[in-house]
Amino acid sequence: MRYKRMPIEVESPEQMGYDTIRNNLSESSYTDALLNEFAEGADLGRLLLCYASHEGHEGLRHLIVKDAANLKPADVLLTIGAAGALFIIATSLLEKDDELIVVRPNYATNIETPRAIGATMRFIDLQFENNWALDIDQVKSAITPKTRYISVTHPHNPTGACLEETQLKQLAGIAETHNLYVLVDETYRDMVFGPQLPLAAEYSPRMISVSSLSKTYGLPGLRTGWIICRDRSLYSTFLAAKEQMHICGPIIDEELAWRFLLHRDRHFPRIAADIQAKFEQVKHWMQQQGDWEWVEPRGGCVGFPRLKAPQTVDIDRFYKSLLADYGTYVGPGHWFAMPRHYIRLGFGWPTRQQLAEGLNALTAAVKASRR
Ligand SMILES: Cc1ncc(COP(=O)(O)O)c(C=O)c1O
Repeated sequence: MRYKRMPIEVESPEQMGYDTIRNNLSESSYTDALLNEFAEGADLGRLLLCYASHEGHEGLRHLIVKDAANLKPADVLLTIGAAGALFIIATSLLEKDDELIVVRPNYATNIETPRAIGATMRFIDLQFENNWALDIDQVKSAITPKTRYISVTHPHNPTGACLEETQLKQLAGIAETHNLYVLVDETYRDMVFGPQLPLAAEYSPRMISVSSLSKTYGLPGLRTGWIICRDRSLYSTFLAAKEQMHICGPIIDEELAWRFLLHRDRHFPRIAADIQAKFEQVKHWMQQQGDWEWVEPRGGCVGFPRLKAPQTVDIDRFYKSLLADYGTYVGPGHWFAMPRHYIRLGFGWPTRQQLAEGLNALTAAVKASRR
């Protein structure tokens, strides 16, 4: 494995120090939760710190699939975040020179781990002009006998584009016809603005769902994610990979994650309403400014705007001024292997006041960086 640190991690707010940023518009999660908000009364002192179930907390796995007609807790493997799930899947399915079809732009791990393995990637480049929509015909034409899996994200990071149900069905059909797998990274699924699609794993044993509690619920510090997969043999390989890395998951995180999901209905309406209000704030700002354009996200709490006239702006000066003069941070395009005049704008994490200040800062920093 040829590991290389990814810019999105090297330059992440937690690595810079959260206190170095006033208006943090770079996050892809909802505001981080306080343990007290949901764990009151949890008597962790009575929790036995033994090795946990290798598959993961039974009650938590039950809650993850409770609304899915044809999925059961045994199809769920808990992982260290969705990041851990993606690593397990890539290292289980790919060997050097195997092929993978993967959308771009993308959350860096979906590309970086296959690269570290030495796999060959066939990219599906999503286009702003096409509303960042996935073109299934393009996916089909990228398949070769060496393709091991197709990697898509719904809702997509960094654009907030969503798949349609017909596309999920088409992907399931492709997987079965060509004897390959489809990884659907559903880390942002609970933040879809419209009606929810079924979990991808419901469509076929060849569809693999990945998610976590990090994004919608602001719980990235719990490091609790999962894989859902109905293919028993593949599940067993995933479990072997997990056991070789860390035997089981952290028992405290899984206990807390279970307690949170037990009372999801108590937390979710407040979170969804706050994301919606912040989304309205960004839409309003978008309408009254002239520098940026975007495709409105259909889920998640990020969008991927770009400068309308990048040639008129000194982009390095813009990023510098944004942080140094206005205390504001966004995800630069290069985090997603895209030109730097694209930015990932995270609107779920900051307070409404910070979001308002951050949006004004974008306007001011562009003005200050005109050529
Ligand atoms: C699409 C996607 N998948 C997976 C992850 C990993 O998240 P976590 O490991 O916190 O669940 C992220 C984080 O940004 C992401 O954007």
